[in-house]
Amino acid sequence: MMEEPQVVVVGSCNIDLICYTTRLPKPGETLHGTKFEKGYGGKGANQCVMAARLGARCAMVAKLGDDDFGHGTVENFRTNNVNVDHVMLTKEASSGVAAITVNEEGENCIVIVSGANMLLCPGDVTKADSLIALATVVVCQLEVNPHTTLTALKLAKKHGVTTIFNTAPGLSGLTEDYYKHTDILCLNESEAETILDVPVPDLSAGEAAMERLQALGCGCVVLTMGERGVLYTQCQQGVWSRVEHIEAHRVEAIDTTGAGDAFVGALAYYLACLPELSLGEMLRRAGVIASHTVTARGTQSSYHVNTLPRELMLP
Ligand code: RIB
Repeated sequence: MMEEPQVVVVGSCNIDLICYTTRLPKPGETLHGTKFEKGYGGKGANQCVMAARLGARCAMVAKLGDDDFGHGTVENFRTNNVNVDHVMLTKEASSGVAAITVNEEGENCIVIVSGANMLLCPGDVTKADSLIALATVVVCQLEVNPHTTLTALKLAKKHGVTTIFNTAPGLSGLTEDYYKHTDILCLNESEAETILDVPVPDLSAGEAAMERLQALGCGCVVLTMGERGVLYTQCQQGVWSRVEHIEAHRVEAIDTTGAGDAFVGALAYYLACLPELSLGEMLRRAGVIASHTVTARGTQSSYHVNTLPRELMLP
């Protein structure tokens, strides 16, 4: 039997159906694609698998359809050494799917049909209480019912467990309760735009957004801005640190799908397995890992941790 997990992810699982095209289609247009790939995805699952592949003991709390996609997803977690004691199968909905188009620049468009993900309810999280209580980090996103996410954040904080709240895929109107129970708020420009209702097109807008994000009440804010790098600030004894900027690690992008999830999963791994690192160093390394994933096709299939520099896993 696996020792207690260090990282518990409460979140979504999808099967990703990815079409590669020269460019993204316009409304009403039919395009010839150049390649197709099917793989395991879903923001929660991706984050969990990345943390597990890097070496953290991980568990997933999720709901899948009792169908081929659902059974395959459970098997995929097992292959990645993820504890599936709280991965449930339901006959009431199909497993989640994501239709993804990726252009020649590696940019994507994603449509998700959540299916069983939305049936993951607060009671399912409460059943995982003993698992969450023993964890070092709990990671949540917004691809499941938001009430379920809030339950997980609250339960984790009740047990003194560090919480990462990744607000992907973006939802406006969240109550302050979500942020009060968040140690590390991790979001990208478009999610910041959804929350704050202002565009965040460049670094100076990002810095202005950071001031407003600080006011939400989390312990730390991490704003990922793709090739513009990462901004972060943390609150210690009621005082916010200066906003710091980490440069992006430059690579040739082939497919950016799942890079944000790789970043969050890597951060969870560092918090659980290398807590002696400073937050800035954890974020720098998570950025290197995320950029490594964009150099290969697919979502989890691009998480090639064995070709990462070994220094990334050392104190
Ligand atoms: O962030 C990428 C993920 O978003 C994909 O794996 C897809 O399933 C959607 O959840």
